[in-house]
Amino acid sequence: MIDLHSHILHDFDDGARTLEAAIEMARAAVAMGVRVMAATPHGRNSTNVDYSRYSVALLTERLTELRAALAEQEINLELVPGTEIYGEPGVVERLRAGELLPYGASRAVLVEFPLSSPAEVVEQIVFALQVAGYRVIYAHPERMRYVQHDPNALVPLIERGALMQLTGDALLGIQGPAMCHLAETLVIHRLVQIIGSDAHGPHFGRMPNLGAACARAAELIGDAEADAMTRAIPAMILSDGPISPPSPIPVRRPLSLF
Ligand SMILES: [Fe+2]
Repeated sequence: MIDLHSHILHDFDDGARTLEAAIEMARAAVAMGVRVMAATPHGRNSTNVDYSRYSVALLTERLTELRAALAEQEINLELVPGTEIYGEPGVVERLRAGELLPYGASRAVLVEFPLSSPAEVVEQIVFALQVAGYRVIYAHPERMRYVQHDPNALVPLIERGALMQLTGDALLGIQGPAMCHLAETLVIHRLVQIIGSDAHGPHFGRMPNLGAACARAAELIGDAEADAMTRAIPAMILSDGPISPPSPIPVRRPLSLF
């Protein structure tokens, strides 16, 4: 499997605190069947000073240290660099300047948004990135208030080629029953196309869990589509290949759980 969202780089953001914790995360991911993991630390943004250490130079340094440690310990996990980009005005310019990273050598970018952003603000930024030639991976849309209110609000973005990344913990019930119900609804209605762990550490709560999440998705939509969410589609994202995910099925009744 390919996990496109993690905070595995040590001593960098709110993810792995130490190199040892990062190694433990890598071991846990491999044990669950993950072979490729994107290291996507939070990019520096205008609202969170905790991420002010972010720089591509430090990211590259941490990546090099972790790759060497994994090689030494014979842990077979390929790491791909990226950034969890904070969706705010100016991201296109910062990507062009090389301050924020797409996944590896691809044109795909992982973008999160302030949880209370309205759909129109999200769409403006997504479309600006798409016009600039980037493929947008929308990080954990299930956390967004407007999506919790109306999951169908994701349909226009999906129809424009944006890909939705559901977080494994949401589907596994670790974030509570209401979030679990929303996650299941998003999977069943094909409103999410990728599952990522968003792992922040080796232990309970946003840990490497892609195998368990994929198994749960398979119970809902079958093995083939669940596998695509964790293998084929992520592989095409990393290689800028063609992707034609299943069409969304509109949710008939509002969830009214949040
Ligand atoms: Fe994240």
